[in-house]
Amino acid sequence: RVLSGRTLDLAGRHVVVSAGGTREAIDPVRFIGNRSSGLQGYALARTAVARGAEVTLVSANVALPDPAGAKVVRVESTGQLREAVLSASAHADAVVMAAAVADFRPVRQSESKIKKSPGEPEPIHLAKNPDVLAELGDMRKTAPFPRVVVGFAAETDDVLANGRAKLERKGCDLLVVNQVGAGLAFGTPDNAAVVLVRGGDPVEIPRGPKEDLADVVWDLVAARLS
Ligand code: CTP
Ligand code: CA
Repeated sequence: RVLSGRTLDLAGRHVVVSAGGTREAIDPVRFIGNRSSGLQGYALARTAVARGAEVTLVSANVALPDPAGAKVVRVESTGQLREAVLSASAHADAVVMAAAVADFRPVRQSESKIKKSPGEPEPIHLAKNPDVLAELGDMRKTAPFPRVVVGFAAETDDVLANGRAKLERKGCDLLVVNQVGAGLAFGTPDNAAVVLVRGGDPVEIPRGPKEDLADVVWDLVAARLS
């Protein structure tokens, strides 16, 4: 659908999009994961292709068809996503971190399936994962790439204040703050958001298809690249 009629304003640009949600193995059959469907990231990849970009899509655990014209790199864990995103971003014009990245991983991954035993289960000890978005923000302190860094955030409380603090903490240019709850965001075709802009006013995106939100993000990215 609405893929035609776009200008090729991203022609000659290389953009990286992460989508879906990372999983951290507990044992060979179990993982810690999240509810991200990948729909928003895939909409970003499709619209970027339609606007002429060369697109690398780093896809974590989604059940969606590959977007035509994008290079798809499949990953499972946060460590794998980090490797794929950082290497694709070394010369990228823009990186959009739409993936829901697991904040924690089990300190120890059991080689064999954990079995029930008569007593209480062992607790699962967690370690913090690296913050890929913050690393991308740091990369730019010493290198010209990636030229534009975009983060996503789902907040339930103090949306604007939490979002503004996150934009600063992670050194990104744009932060798309989703309003979660009320049947929005996870697994639905629609989204509503406010985009916080470094050095600019926030841009409200009313409830609508994830492709419309994607186009607003690329409008803002294209403006910063030109
Ligand atoms: N992100 C990331 N690496 C992580 C965690 C998050 O790159 N280890 C990215 C996400 O892809 C997203 C942005 O950071 O673009 C914000 O994610 P979010 O979970 O809202 O932020 P956190 O810093 O993890 O804070 P919170 O405690 O609110 O979860
Ligand atoms: Ca998080």
